[in-house]
Amino acid sequence: MTVSPQEHDRHLAAVPDLDPAPNPHATQAEVEAARHDTKLAQVLYHDWEAESYDEKWHISYDERCIEYARDRFDAVAGPQPLPYGRALELGCGTGFFLLNLMQAGVAATGSVTDLSPGMVKVALRNAEHLGLPVDGRVADAEIIPYEDETFDLVVGHAVLHHIPDVEQALREVLRVLKPGGRFVFAGEPSTIGNLYARWLGWATWKITTNVTRIPALADWRRTQEELDESSRAAALEAVVDLHTFDPADLEKIAEAAGAIAVHAHTEEFAAALLGWPVRTFEAVVPPGKLGFGWAKFAFNGWKTLSWVDDHLLNRIVPRRFFYNVAITGVKQS
Ligand SMILES: C[S@@+](CC[C@H](N)C(=O)[O-])C[C@H]1O[C@@H](n2cnc3c(N)ncnc32)[C@H](O)[C@@H]1O
Repeated sequence: MTVSPQEHDRHLAAVPDLDPAPNPHATQAEVEAARHDTKLAQVLYHDWEAESYDEKWHISYDERCIEYARDRFDAVAGPQPLPYGRALELGCGTGFFLLNLMQAGVAATGSVTDLSPGMVKVALRNAEHLGLPVDGRVADAEIIPYEDETFDLVVGHAVLHHIPDVEQALREVLRVLKPGGRFVFAGEPSTIGNLYARWLGWATWKITTNVTRIPALADWRRTQEELDESSRAAALEAVVDLHTFDPADLEKIAEAAGAIAVHAHTEEFAAALLGWPVRTFEAVVPPGKLGFGWAKFAFNGWKTLSWVDDHLLNRIVPRRFFYNVAITGVKQS
């Protein structure tokens, strides 16, 4: 789908002064409607997740995540003259990628955007706590509400797979980029990686929820209400996760959108085989139960296996088998 200039201007004119408010408690009727409306599903699902998102995904704004974000950026973009002036993040969630990239010196000022009002609210709150010069608004990546040639850099993490028309979003990215500006999207699921991740998640959920039915292990299980809520969320997840990517296909989409110097990079094979069961296990067990030792095991295990992926497996395993896909490209000067 291509958005005409007239449609685009109409959209800009229709943007209200005040962004819509978060709706963290969707009714059953809203959830039903969202099954047939992917963008409503994105808003309900991510508004519901927003306040607990950082905790669920172990997102922080300290050295650990600053280094993680910067490594993802460098791995696909390579060495760049830094900092970029003004950066935009699409599908910012709680701000994990851009806020940590700014702390790493990648960009001087930022604008965070997301379809979910709840996420924008949390991202702006996080930016304020960190004292970063960031503004934000509720925005659909397919119709970005900023003028042409506004940004030096556009970034996103784990967002492209939620957008119905990825090529249209990348066309919009190129429109709002200044000539010579760069985009970097990381953390997208690969088509093959998604197959084994889903299977591992499903198997871990089944085993853990069944084993913790044993009365002696009852306090290793979240309340039924919490598990049911997770299952409802997982059902919505199927509606919000629209794509998986083969790296070569994603390169073609970016080129079709008009980008030059396009390059896709993949990461995490062994690390993903550990990461998905770990995350699913954490969703079943009450948060206080696992403690610091578990967190250390999960993080160090992931780091060690990532090292094996980056230094060994990437030489012998084809890139499309790795779980995470990242893509970069440039707007022609
Ligand atoms: C998986 S979350 C990732 C959040 C964050 N980037 C991170 O890595 O932690 C995907 C985010 O994309 C947002 N999103 C989904 N569809 C979108 C769209 N069409 N335009 C903008 N944001 C969208 C969701 O609301 C959600 O916050």
